[in-house]
Formats: sequence, C-alpha cells, structure tokens
Amino acid sequence: MDFYDKDLVSIRDLDRAHIEALLDLSEEMIPYARGEKVERMLDGRVLGNLFFEPSTRTKLSFESAACRLGCDVIDVSEISMTSISKGETLADTIRMVDAYCDVIVLRHPHEGAARLAAKFSENPVINAGDGAGSHPTQTLLDLFTMRKSKGSLDGLNVVLVGDLKYGRTVHSLAEALTAFGAKLTLVAPETLQMPDDIYNHLKEKGCNPVKTSVLEDAIDQADVLYVTRIQRERFPDPGEYQKVAGTYKIDNSMLREAKSDMIVMHPLPRVNEIAYEVDSTPHAMYFEQAFNGVPVRMAILRAILRRE
Ligand code: CP
Repeated sequence: MDFYDKDLVSIRDLDRAHIEALLDLSEEMIPYARGEKVERMLDGRVLGNLFFEPSTRTKLSFESAACRLGCDVIDVSEISMTSISKGETLADTIRMVDAYCDVIVLRHPHEGAARLAAKFSENPVINAGDGAGSHPTQTLLDLFTMRKSKGSLDGLNVVLVGDLKYGRTVHSLAEALTAFGAKLTLVAPETLQMPDDIYNHLKEKGCNPVKTSVLEDAIDQADVLYVTRIQRERFPDPGEYQKVAGTYKIDNSMLREAKSDMIVMHPLPRVNEIAYEVDSTPHAMYFEQAFNGVPVRMAILRAILRRE
C-alpha cells in the first residue's frame, strides 16, 4: 500500500485493504508507543499541528506519536494567536505552514476545511476533525480497538448511540464499517439521527442500518456499543440542545442484558453519557481506545512520511 505523501482527508480515501494495512502497521507501533522500543524513524521531519478547535486526545496523541518517532512538532492551538485573527485566510495560512513542515494535521470548526487545506498545501494534510464532517484518524483507532478486542472486524453488530447528526466520529466510523459487513443500529433522538447523505451512502454500500431512538432494545445483541457526546457546541440554538441533553446515559443496570464480551467505546470527551461505575467493568474500552490513538497515529505518520 502506498500512502507516501498522500492526504488523509476522509475515510472514503481508504478502502478495506488500505485500512487493514494501516491497522497492521499500528500493531507494529505498539512497543514504540509504549516507549519499550525507541527508533527515530522520522528523524529530521517536521509535523505542523494546527488545532483551531479544542482537543486533548487528537492533538496530544499526534504529538506523542511524532516525538516518539523522532519527528519534530510545530503547533498552534489558538486561532487567536495566528494571523487569521488579523484577517488572513485559511488558504494563505496553510500555504505558510506548508513551507515550515512536511505534513499538516488540521482540526477546524468548519466542515470541508481539511479538503480546502489539502488543495493549498504541497505537503500532505491529515484531517483531525472538520466541524460536524468527519474524523478519519479517530475511525482508524476505533477500528484498531475493535479488531484488537474482537479478533476481527468482519460482521460485527455495532450500535452507534448519541449525537449522530453532529458527531463526526460516527460519520466516518459508520462508513468504514460498511467495508467489513457490519450490522449497524443507529440510536439517536429523531432530531439527531444520521444525516441523509451519510445514511444513503451506507445503503449504497450494502448496509441497511436500523434507526431507532430506543437504546434498551439494541444493547443485548451488540458486540460494540459506541457512545457519543451530544455536541453542544454545534447547536445553532442552545434551547434545542437543552431538549436532547442527557437523553442517553449508560450505567451498569443497562449493561445487565449485554453480551459478556460486549465492549463500550466512546471517542471522548464524555460529559455524562457513561456513568463512572461503568469504568471498572470489563465492558469499558474507552481509555484503551484513547491510548490506541498513539500507535495508530504513529502508523499514519510513518506511512505518509516514509517511502517504505
Ligand atoms: N476523540 C477526540 O477527537 O478527542 P479530542 O477532541 O480530545 O481530540
């Protein structure tokens, strides 16, 4: 698989073989992610980490991945600290950062920003989340976590619950899972169901997701319960957020009917969608999932920055 010098803007850029190759490489990266092995395989390369929206996991796991492989990092985490605040366009900003590094990782509040950045950058651009659009590197670490836990990605019964309208992680993940014959159940309040364009894309790919607002009916058959936060910051009207805030809260009593090996995942941050008591059950996979961001992002950086 040749990822060298390529953008990663959408999970649609990757087919099943691409995904499996990156997950295999991620597996190789685990001892490096843990610091058990050290090799500066990206020595002399520079990552430009542009985060124009808050982030803990994506930003820091990209930085950790880069540092552990010997890749230097330049970064921005406040849009107000860039010349965008003086009126510079994103396109000109990207042209500049492109001149200072070898790969750009971009998080931006507007859907389509990463695609625009890729147009103006000579070097590869990795989408680290564009508004309510997509989050392809999160999807790769989600798939990695599922594969590690379940042994295979084929034919999993996956329940996606929460904010399927504004939640970019579930947009990318649902699309990727179609390549593995997943059975998808989409659990959300009616106003936060999966956008039609993505739902139709899933159907075109041969997946026939079940839509419901009742979580309890879906849990007992699930192999994976993927929980998401209601994305308060994306609601144009705070009153609309209040109507759906706290709709779903997973606690131990809800997991009584679950398969013993069902895993609960969450891209994090959580607000109140998963009770803390779930953390100490064997179902809880979300912290391991977040750690997996390091080996997976190592694999992505290595594949893009090194001609193998
Ligand atoms: N999962 C995720 O994107 O988390 P952050 O917003 O903290 O990067």
